[in-house]
Amino acid sequence: MSKILVTGGLGFIGSHTVVELQNAGFKVIIIDNLSNATENVLNGITAITSITPEFENLDLKNKEQTKTFFKKHQDIVGVIHFAAYKAVGESVKSPLTYYENNVNSLVYVLQELNKKAVSHFIFSSSCTVYGQADSMPITELAPTKPAESPYGNTKKIGEAIIEDLTKSNANFKAIALRYFNPIGAHQSSKIGELPIGVPLNLVPYITQTAAGKREQLSVFGDNYPTPDGTCIRDYIHVVDLAKAHVIALQRLLENKNDTNFEIFNLGTGKGSSVLEVIQSFERVSNQKLNYKIVDRRDGDVVEAYANTTKANTVLGWKAKLSLDDAMLSAWKWEQTL
Ligand code: WQD
Repeated sequence: MSKILVTGGLGFIGSHTVVELQNAGFKVIIIDNLSNATENVLNGITAITSITPEFENLDLKNKEQTKTFFKKHQDIVGVIHFAAYKAVGESVKSPLTYYENNVNSLVYVLQELNKKAVSHFIFSSSCTVYGQADSMPITELAPTKPAESPYGNTKKIGEAIIEDLTKSNANFKAIALRYFNPIGAHQSSKIGELPIGVPLNLVPYITQTAAGKREQLSVFGDNYPTPDGTCIRDYIHVVDLAKAHVIALQRLLENKNDTNFEIFNLGTGKGSSVLEVIQSFERVSNQKLNYKIVDRRDGDVVEAYANTTKANTVLGWKAKLSLDDAMLSAWKWEQTL
């Protein structure tokens, strides 16, 4: 079986992608430095698939450790690269930590792949590269904007580094997947989102509030130019997102890619406001959520939702799960914690 390396594979999206890779018959090896995940996630993956992926706890920003790993595992045919810090606010406070971790680790992995006869690379990118796009829904042709944060900049820089490598090495093939807002959990409730400390993202804050772990959800502003005044995002179920990674990898392994650097937006194509997400949660949980409207949060864009035509027609992938499916899975997961 082809062996696939998943960096950051014990994280939220990484762990769900490992499940789908194993379901598709791939042999998986995970690298994770456990800075934002626990080794216990391996048990969740095994509980779902009855297969325990290989796991190595190493830090990809350690060049020697990375080099030694690839020497030991010459049979890797593809890499899905999730390993990165991803807290927008934290990146503003500690930019060098983000550039060192997110950029250096990417470069060290790419340096090893650059030595191989052929390699296939899937990069975890983000709709954050679009900033506040000029028009909705957002296509892959929308211009990228100056990054709103060092975190977002590391995604833009990452895409540029990868694209440059595809130009210098025709045997290196890559796809960047620009996620919109990943939410939810595997329907088994064996894996899900595990924010460390106070959740920065909306959905885990909602479920923790409902579970009594947080006092009250603060809604960051209801005076935006949107129908109900709250910001609009494209909330995509993490399992739909994970399946897209397997399809993108297979596209490269089967040489179906049109060029050696392709970009796909991964969203549902539907925008939902903060209040609509809250209403979805109340519907699926059959309970009222305790929230209040407060001031806007710096850096928030008014709306961002995907034009999914390219992913649907070229990649052959379409999100199948609804906002209610995602909110119910997030709630069920929260209740296991
Ligand atoms: C969604 C909406 C908030 C929390 C971020 C990153 C992006 C990606 C996904 C990694 C906004 C509102 C939130 C709260 C609220 N991460 N909100 N109260 O900011 O769209 O995207 O996570 O790739 O790169 O930027 O997601 O969940 O933080 O916010 O009202 O307690 O919910 O204002 O409108 P965001 P989010």
